Amino acid sequence: MSWKEEVQKVADEFIYTNEDVNKGVKEFLREMDEGLSHSGSTLSQIPTYVTSVPNGTEKGLYLAVDLGGTNFRVCSIQLRGNTTFSLTQSKVAIPRELMVAKTSKELFSFLAKQIEVFLKTHHNDHFQAVVRRRRTMSISEGFREEEIFQLGFTFSFPVQQHGINRGTLIRWTKGFDIADAVGKDVCVLLQDEIDELHLPVRVAALVNDTVGTLMARSYTSPGKTGTLLGAIFGTGTNGAYVEKLKNITKLPAASGANYDDSTGEMIVNTEWGSFDNGLRVLPNTSYDEALDKESVNPGIQMFEKRVSGMFLGEILRRAMLALVKDPKVMLFKDEDSSSNDIHSTTNIAPDSPLFTQWGLDTSFLSIVAGDTSYGLKVIKQTLDKELGISAASTEDAEAVKVLAAAIGKRAARLSAVPIAGIVHKSGRLGKTSASASHAASKVKEHVQNLEVGEAAKTAAEGVQASAAPVVDLPPTGGVGNDEDDVVDIGVDGSLVEYYPGFEDYLREALREIPEIGAKGEKKIRIGIAKDGSGVGAALIALVAGPLTASPPVSPIREKK
Ligand code: GLC
Repeated sequence: MSWKEEVQKVADEFIYTNEDVNKGVKEFLREMDEGLSHSGSTLSQIPTYVTSVPNGTEKGLYLAVDLGGTNFRVCSIQLRGNTTFSLTQSKVAIPRELMVAKTSKELFSFLAKQIEVFLKTHHNDHFQAVVRRRRTMSISEGFREEEIFQLGFTFSFPVQQHGINRGTLIRWTKGFDIADAVGKDVCVLLQDEIDELHLPVRVAALVNDTVGTLMARSYTSPGKTGTLLGAIFGTGTNGAYVEKLKNITKLPAASGANYDDSTGEMIVNTEWGSFDNGLRVLPNTSYDEALDKESVNPGIQMFEKRVSGMFLGEILRRAMLALVKDPKVMLFKDEDSSSNDIHSTTNIAPDSPLFTQWGLDTSFLSIVAGDTSYGLKVIKQTLDKELGISAASTEDAEAVKVLAAAIGKRAARLSAVPIAGIVHKSGRLGKTSASASHAASKVKEHVQNLEVGEAAKTAAEGVQASAAPVVDLPPTGGVGNDEDDVVDIGVDGSLVEYYPGFEDYLREALREIPEIGAKGEKKIRIGIAKDGSGVGAALIALVAGPLTASPPVSPIREKK
């Protein structure tokens, strides 16, 4: 066997056949039902208590913060009450040590501090006015409601919600690991730190990024049909969809949570990153196995570990390293480097990230997949720059391309599984738009006319004001239908946005699923809702306002 055949053999381990896809969908449907009927299931199916919608006449300044990946974002949305708004946002990278801090206080006080900086930078007048008023107010009266900023908290980790601004952390994902936060109400953790800084801010809604994406997409998508699903394919992967209230049988009738049930629907956060943690149907190569074993959460987020941006680079790194270590395989070993750029010896630097866990970023896969240059020059340069592998040959670059493509393609085909499951379960493929979704189309009806107002101007560094918080790209496929005869899906995340061919592979798999088929696949419209989670969170804070008259209060403070 030539060494290239050895490489191909490894790449073939990542083939995810049509039969596998179909097995996956069946299992996903089973786990969906299981998750709706009782807690503790592998697919969490978390009720979000989001059932009601804004009506477009609300006024005021809303805040949204977003924690869930590499950055923490703070934004404010000024609703003018005449269907226009403006948005200002800032972004700061979360220091790595805070992701694994000893106490949750370290992380949450950092977040509150960012909110303070943001308010002082962008809303100083309002901020100062509130502070002045507060100084003259009698203690017993406390704040007047309209003086407080309502904040939508996008917290993109699995949380058991108990109400629209109540939720306890089930587990950390995506490399975060702060033991004392698990089981605590994250709204309280944030509110406590906000109060410690005496900020006039109330955490009014707790939102997963998928839910924000669904809300944001729902009012920007063309046509009357409400969006069915908001999905993230970024650092992590997950989806939230519109489910009939009567199907959420685990929803405790007397949960004490206050929500409007008039639409008969509720958005459910699937937490599909943990689909099939038991590995009944998911593919499992030795590279997947080793990645999981050495992760901070072995046995958990098994679907996410095969699909999302945090992990694909690491899978590729492990596959490449195994081949480099194999004496039969000439990868980066120069015997065949006659065609390398500078006719010098291929060399792997001893401190190459190839030898370090998480050393290879998933953006590498996108770069590799996008290289169509003669002699794969871009791959060679990237190997040099990012992995310290100098003078790689064309054969080396080809081998890397084959491996990376196999891993990327498997991720995209796997992504078809939850999408197909949710679309099929919704019954929307066989329906006309009129019966599609009450909750989502109500969102559309009320806020579709919201136009983005003139962007707030700001001089502060690193802060952008945006006139278009939600980018509604033309649908990339599945059109050619009556606009209202589509099943609309909002997506966000680096993978779906930047990995070349991600959606094509995903659609290819969708067509092979009998419940969807070629006809059904055409009806599925996928659109990017860029940064929708922030805007969605503000919208939910807005609708949640009347439902959450009081801020989340820690049990200790309640006792006083
Ligand atoms: C992880 C989180 C989930 C989030 C997703 C995308 O899977 O557990 O809550 O939605 O990442 O950010």
